[in-house]
Amino acid sequence: MLDIKSFIAERVNLMESSEIREILELTEGKNVISLAGGLPDPKYFPVEELAQISSDVIREYGWKALQYSVTRGVREFRNELVRFMERAGIPGERPYNIIVTSGSQQALSLLSQILINPNDIVIVEKPTYLAAINVFKSVGAKFEGVGIDEHGMKIEELEEKLKEFRREGKKPKVVYTIPTAQNPSGVSMSNERREWLLELAEEYDFLIIEDDPYSHFMFEDHIRFERLRAKDKYRVIYTSTMSKILAPGLRLGWVAAHPDIIDALETAKQNADLHTSTFNQLIAAEALKRGVVDSHIPKVKEAYRAKRDAMLESLEEYMDGVAKWTKPVGGLFVFVYLDENLDTKEMLPMALSEGVAYVPGSAFYIDGSGRNTMRLNFSYPSIEEIREAIKRLSKVVREYTAKVSG
Ligand SMILES: Cc1ncc(COP(=O)(O)O)c(C=O)c1O
Repeated sequence: MLDIKSFIAERVNLMESSEIREILELTEGKNVISLAGGLPDPKYFPVEELAQISSDVIREYGWKALQYSVTRGVREFRNELVRFMERAGIPGERPYNIIVTSGSQQALSLLSQILINPNDIVIVEKPTYLAAINVFKSVGAKFEGVGIDEHGMKIEELEEKLKEFRREGKKPKVVYTIPTAQNPSGVSMSNERREWLLELAEEYDFLIIEDDPYSHFMFEDHIRFERLRAKDKYRVIYTSTMSKILAPGLRLGWVAAHPDIIDALETAKQNADLHTSTFNQLIAAEALKRGVVDSHIPKVKEAYRAKRDAMLESLEEYMDGVAKWTKPVGGLFVFVYLDENLDTKEMLPMALSEGVAYVPGSAFYIDGSGRNTMRLNFSYPSIEEIREAIKRLSKVVREYTAKVSG
């Protein structure tokens, strides 16, 4: 018998598929309200504007829009990204500091390849973005986790760990953080902690990957924050994406970093896919130039703020006393904590049969802890669906709690 599996390389054993994708597959076509994914609300995609821009791009650029282009990214797009970053409070970028990637997921994948040798230490928030965990794991990284509270990563705890590593003669290479409107918790790092983190990077000689897909969706206008990249152009590797501020299907992300990092990324990207779609980059460049992105962001932000509020109100109404949850200041998610003895993975089939899906929180922890947690998305479902989903979920939590406590 032909054993096809025996042909598959060993490194695939280090790769994990995303639990979220698997859950999404389970819920497809069923009467389940999914709070599991992280999808933008498609109602707000600027379809008409993009139809016009796509047609204009083909006409104006002709064959150039359809031809291969340079690995670093189409010049027009990188120029617009420099301006966009400047408007967002990150001045001083240059096109040669930027490489365009196929989504920021590819940025993370390429960064893991160019930075991480097997057993290098990567420090992450606990919890953190699960696909980042998978990417770093696939190149053999060793993880260390640092807890979070409502002000983001606990930098005091980070400093303790760094001291301990130093005593043991070990040197972490990278801190990966989502400092603003974090996935999965929606919390943001305070400015004091940001300063402190940058000081620690100097003192302990590590690099910081600042993953920033959600900072344009900060709901509390009084919260002032400064991107890490705006403060440090040497140690901070910044990645962001058009996925949430324009459309994820375009698969456009980018990295802004020291030119030596960009050079290495360019080589790795050449091996991966030569370059990101020329046509899509020109569309996004035009969308930035015509102000489509800048006018799209506030509309989406308002919509997500209303959905966040609806989710928090429903949690208050239905889950008070049986769960605790984060109060997201931005982003797309609420993170929920149940009693310590409960296991949200075990509870998931009950939830699916009640018609509600979520992501079990342990997927966001590097050490398999967080079994009593779950991530809820509020960007995709409607406000009515959010209310109904939380109502269903509270029934499930109550029934499951009763079952576990016998
Ligand atoms: C923290 C974080 N980083 C990276 C990504 C990848 O996004 P994309 O590849 O669509 O840019 C996501 C997507 O949800 C995310 O939440």
